[in-house]
Amino acid sequence: MRATGNNIEIRVNGITLCYDDEGNGNMPVVFIHGFPFDRLMWQPQVDFLKSSQRVIAYDIRGFGKSGAGAEKASIELFANDLIKLMDGLQISKAIICGLSMGGYIVLNAVSRFPERFEKIILSDTQCIADSSDGREKRFKTIQRIEAGGLSDFTETFVKNIFCKDSLTNKKELVDGIKDTILSTSKQTITGTLAALAERNETCSVLNSISIPALILCGREDGITPPAQAEFLKNNIKNSTLHIIEGAGHMSNLEQADEFNELVKQFITDSVM
Ligand code: MLT
Repeated sequence: MRATGNNIEIRVNGITLCYDDEGNGNMPVVFIHGFPFDRLMWQPQVDFLKSSQRVIAYDIRGFGKSGAGAEKASIELFANDLIKLMDGLQISKAIICGLSMGGYIVLNAVSRFPERFEKIILSDTQCIADSSDGREKRFKTIQRIEAGGLSDFTETFVKNIFCKDSLTNKKELVDGIKDTILSTSKQTITGTLAALAERNETCSVLNSISIPALILCGREDGITPPAQAEFLKNNIKNSTLHIIEGAGHMSNLEQADEFNELVKQFITDSVM
C-alpha cells in the first residue's frame, strides 16, 4: 500500500531518503530542491497542488532529513537517487520539477532515462557547467567553510538568491532559507559545492528532449539568469518560457502565486 503524508522514509541506493507524498492524480509531480535547501522550499507548491495532483517532494541525500551516505556527491548520483526513488514508489513516469541544482538533476536524469519523464519543469536553472573561475570560487568557498563554518557563507548566499524587494519585504522567507542552510551539515554543503563545481554540461543533450518543458526564471535571478533560461527555451523543441517579475533565484517562493498558476496550467495540459 502507498504511504502518504509527510516525513516518510524510504531506502534508496543504500541511504534513507525522506519525502512527502500527498494528494492523488494520474500523473505524479515530483519536486527537486536546489542547493543548499530542502524539500520544504516546495511547500507553497505542494499545498496548492495537492487537492488535484499526487505531489512528491523529497530531500536530496544529505539535505533536510535524508541520510548522507558515504559516496562522493555528484549530480549523476543525485539523478540516480531520483530514479531509484521513483522505482521504490513504483512510479514509472512522472512530471518532474527542479529548481537550480534540482534542474541540473532533471537534465542529467532526462538525458539518461527519458522514458521516466512525462514533462519537465526547469526553474531558475541552466545547462552550462561551471567556468574555471566559477569552479575556483566554489573551491575557495569550501576552504572558507571548512575553516570558519557556515555563517558567512549563509549571509552572502542569501543576499545573492533573493531579489532586492524580497530581501527588504519578505524577511520571513529569507530567514526561513537562512535557517535551512544553517541546519545543513558542513560536510553536505562542501561535498555538494564540489559536486556542483565538477558537474558536466547538459547543453549538448537539450535537442534530444522531445517531451514538453516549462521553463521559469525570476527576472532578477543573478545565479542562473534569464539569458540561461532563454538558452534552454531556444534549444528544447517543445518548451515554453516565463520570466517571473519581482523574483530572484527563488522564484517559487518569491512569487509563489504566479509560479503555482503556471505550473498548474502546465500540469493540467499534460494529464492525459
Ligand atoms: C542552487 O540554487 O541550486 C545553486 O545555487 C546552483 C548553483 O550554485 O549552481
